[in-house]
Amino acid sequence: MKKIPFIDLKRSYQVYKEELEKRVLKVFESGIYLNGPQTKELEEVLANYLNVPYAIGVSSGTEALFLILKALDLPQNTYVLLPSFTFVATAEVVVRAGLIPHFVDVEEETYNLSLESLKENYEKLKKKRKKISAVIAVSLFGLPARLKEIKEFCEEKGIYLIEDICQAFGAKIGNKKAGTFGIASATSFYPTKPLSTFGDAGMVFTSNKKLAKIVRILKEHGQTKPYFYEYHGLNGRIDEIHSAILLIKFKYFEKEIALRKAIVEKYMEGLKDLSPYLKLPYFPKDYFSSYSLFTVRAKNRDRLKKFLENKGIITGVYYNKPLHLQPVYKKFNFKNGDLPVTEKLAKEVLSLPLYPYLTKDEVNYVIFSIKEFYGA
Ligand SMILES: Cc1ncc(COP(=O)(O)O)c(C=O)c1O
Repeated sequence: MKKIPFIDLKRSYQVYKEELEKRVLKVFESGIYLNGPQTKELEEVLANYLNVPYAIGVSSGTEALFLILKALDLPQNTYVLLPSFTFVATAEVVVRAGLIPHFVDVEEETYNLSLESLKENYEKLKKKRKKISAVIAVSLFGLPARLKEIKEFCEEKGIYLIEDICQAFGAKIGNKKAGTFGIASATSFYPTKPLSTFGDAGMVFTSNKKLAKIVRILKEHGQTKPYFYEYHGLNGRIDEIHSAILLIKFKYFEKEIALRKAIVEKYMEGLKDLSPYLKLPYFPKDYFSSYSLFTVRAKNRDRLKKFLENKGIITGVYYNKPLHLQPVYKKFNFKNGDLPVTEKLAKEVLSLPLYPYLTKDEVNYVIFSIKEFYGA
């Protein structure tokens, strides 16, 4: 039986093994493990790639988001609108920053924040005289959210737009990269992300000089000069080893997005005739995904998942219990039925194996097996 892991990180390691080991060894030998030349170079390279003046390497995507919220110094107990259909970190940081998460629905076809639901929820909160300070737009599975429209909405209302591009580094709308629409954006280099390291790391991007300066201070315990603290900060640094690994991996990044894209196109073509059993993701015109996950909506999702597993194909479910229904967020008074699209997606979504070095044969086998399940 074939064995197709959901994501095979060992395969990509083989591609850069020699280069990586050489560069990492040099870091070991240098004696500089934090705040050194690797991180400085990585920040320059990635700021340049996104075409923003400031990039600050941090310890994870979660800390990147938290540092943005802290640096903005939003009034305590004000509301932050965000999708419920996202990884828990997007909401977790809101609570940690002393703010109130308010969950909003998503679009069925793109899985990203629905502008309509955003507007509705904004008005609902306003009617109750609640103070709203920000929106966190998540670009899920690699596809940019409706960032232009969300930005316009936030500007009109005078609230901040923060971008969670933890799954969408490298994605763009037209020529403008995801991560450059809001006041600041956060990305993650978690091992399964398209640009990833061998552990945890992340980055904050912004065009706002003051914000960049504060994030830099906060991630160093709030220190403004040696052992002098003007802010309540944290230890949020990226380390030199991760920066060195990311510099090597970044050289292959665009090529790997193209490889991911080719696989997605193969899936799209091979699975196109399976409606109404299987609904494929929608990529709006001029939206360029970084294809971090390939997620379909499947009839009898759980049975299909099991069927594929029995054939050696491992799939993923992101996310089977939306955040607004998670026990930890109960106190914010959401209930079943509040976000119908999110709740529907939670029952239907299935992510298929996707990584740059997945072979054509393997993709064909996944397609063949899905067809077999539906008898198509
Ligand atoms: C949408 C989203 N937000 C935030 C995060 C947090 O990133 P990290 O795991 O690097 O803390 C992740 C990644 O895991 C994510 O997918």
